[in-house]
Amino acid sequence: MDWGLANRMHRLFSPSSGNSVMLAVDHGYFMGPTHHLEDARATIAPLLPHADAVALTRGILRRCVDPTTSTPVVLRVSGGVTVLKEDLSDEAITTSMEEAARLNVSAVALSVFVGAPHEHESLVHLGELVDGGEEYGIPVMAITAVGKELEKRDQRYLALACRVSAELGAHLVKTYYCDGFAKVVEACPVPIVVAGGPKLDSDEAALTLARDAIDAGAHGIDMGRNIWQSDHPVPMLKALRAIVHDRATVREALAVLEREKGRPRAVPPTPAA
Ligand code: 5RP
Repeated sequence: MDWGLANRMHRLFSPSSGNSVMLAVDHGYFMGPTHHLEDARATIAPLLPHADAVALTRGILRRCVDPTTSTPVVLRVSGGVTVLKEDLSDEAITTSMEEAARLNVSAVALSVFVGAPHEHESLVHLGELVDGGEEYGIPVMAITAVGKELEKRDQRYLALACRVSAELGAHLVKTYYCDGFAKVVEACPVPIVVAGGPKLDSDEAALTLARDAIDAGAHGIDMGRNIWQSDHPVPMLKALRAIVHDRATVREALAVLEREKGRPRAVPPTPAA
């Protein structure tokens, strides 16, 4: 692996645990103003210092994130379709590798739609993006099973989607947890991080999902709604960190959550005009 690409990969994963807690706030690129992400700046600011990376689009990065941040950025570069369309798989690459380099990001991300009408295009886009990523030293994260593909997320489907992504050169893969997840991890030669999916019934359920994913060999999480749609986003993020980095049990993570709920919320500094 080229030095620049290796260096950017190392920014994303903690040297001590080898894992990463990524904060996903890219939902608006096809879902619009998602619940609790309407004011993206207000949602992101208090969470950012506690995340190992933030995953978003260039529009939200430029408008809603202070450029003094030291949190690494995973830039979503695919899009072109919204929830108003029946077929969500008709995506293209919407942001160039030159733009990603200009924004000093640590990785770029695109969705791949295995088994969907535009499977072929999305996989070709992945290959082309990896060519650009290798040229610029920027890792590429393939995101599997977004949107309607989620309905198919059993172990066979996710193992196929993750393995195909790695075969085409993805440097890391984001996918969803499923029963038998260890087999998905075993068959994928690059690190896997796990998304949370729609808000679960409780914070405990989301912590359990993270615990199970780490136990099965995931290298972390790239989670959104189960953090910022929680009643306690920062305590929730800290509880997830305990699981991902400190191998906390769900019970121990719940204790972190309760302790952090009792702390006064720090007010993030107002960015310079
Ligand atoms: C949406 C995405 C999200 O980043 C991904 O689904 C993770 O967020 P959540 O935990 O809310 O599912 O790729 O396009």
